[in-house]
Parts: sequence; C-alpha cells; structure tokens
Amino acid sequence: MDSPTPPLISRRDALIAGAATAAAVSSAVPGTVAAQPAPLPAAGPRMKLSLTVNGQAHALQLDTRTTLLDALREHLNLTGTKKGCDHGQCGACTVIADGRRINSCLTLAVMHDGGQVTTIEGLGTPQHMHPLQAAFVKHDGYQCGYCTPGQICSAVAVIDEVKRGIPSHVSADLNARPLLSADELRERMSGNICRCGAYSNIVDAITEVAGSRA
Ligand code: FES
Ligand code: FES
Repeated sequence: MDSPTPPLISRRDALIAGAATAAAVSSAVPGTVAAQPAPLPAAGPRMKLSLTVNGQAHALQLDTRTTLLDALREHLNLTGTKKGCDHGQCGACTVIADGRRINSCLTLAVMHDGGQVTTIEGLGTPQHMHPLQAAFVKHDGYQCGYCTPGQICSAVAVIDEVKRGIPSHVSADLNARPLLSADELRERMSGNICRCGAYSNIVDAITEVAGSRA
C-alpha cells in the first residue's frame, strides 16, 4: 500500500498556524503573560566630571551613557562637531582629545573626566582662521560642509603624526620619517568620509599646510 502523501503547506499558512497555536497556548494557561523585552530606563546614573574644552573648564553632571559627542553638542552647545552616523563610521564627529583624534560618538564623556578636548570651535574663528581652515576655504575643500569640522580636526592630528614620524599602514619604511604624500594622506584621512566627494580639494588643502607636495 502506498504511504499517504503529506499535505503541502505554504510558508504563510505555517506562520498563521504557528501564531494561532501560540495564541491558543497563551490563552489556555490562566495568568500567563507573553514575554516582553525589558524597557530601557529613561535615565541612567549620573556622574560629575570636569572637561576642559577649547581651553575652557566645564563642570558637568551627566548620565553615564552620554557620549562625548552629545556632551559637546547637547550640554555645551558646541555644535560645530557634527553627528553623521553615530556609529564610528563617518568621522564627522572627530575631535582631538588629549592630543589624539577620536570619534567622539564612540566614547563616553565620563571616560574623559579631567581631560582636554579641542573641537573645531577651538581651532580658529571666522576672523582668525586656523591655517587648515583657511586652506579648506582657499581650495574649496568642501561643498555642504557637514564633514568639514571632522576633516579639519583629523588633518590637524595627521600633520602632527607625520611630524612625529609615526608610520601609517602605507608607509614603505617603518623606520624612515614619513612624507605626507597623497597616498599617505588618503590612508591617514580614510576614516573621514565626504559624501560630497570633495576629496581631491581636501588633499590639496592639507598638503599645502603640511608644506609638502605629493
Ligand atoms: Fe561619529 Fe560618524 S558620527 S563617526
Ligand atoms: Fe559635504 Fe563633505 S563637504 S560631506
């Protein structure tokens, strides 16, 4: 005797059947409550910290989950530092913290208690621009300008890294003093994305200030 052919069931039917079964089981057990994800607390513990930003000391009391980026923008009103991705992928939020460039969206403000932070506002003003700011204007190193504060903070650190002889991933000789060639510059600035594609002008601007040509 032939064995019976199993009935065909579509994926949609299977899902409907599964949902109906779950509802039946849930309603069949008095007092059963479907599991819900725990809601995130609206506020976390707060902590006092001091931050020196652009040479000015600030005493803050922040939710420990506050990123450095949000502390700068939302609590100190320094909105020059931009939030692009908020995931460490675009570089728009780059600032200089204790001499190193960092993505301020990827670090908590409380981790910088007692630290020194420089943002784009601390580099220059429209009347007295930092040489890199002036070079970006001169070379049209931007279009919408959203990435520009991060590009400039990064470039300040890049020029400093090269002066101190720190090699990059593309340096041919790890023991020789690196030259800021276009390849070096592109590698070192690769964490700063420009959605307007102003890259060639950005390279020109930084190269001029670094004092070397590729
Ligand atoms: Fe921080 Fe994009 S906003 S890397
Ligand atoms: Fe628009 Fe760079 S100038 S993203």
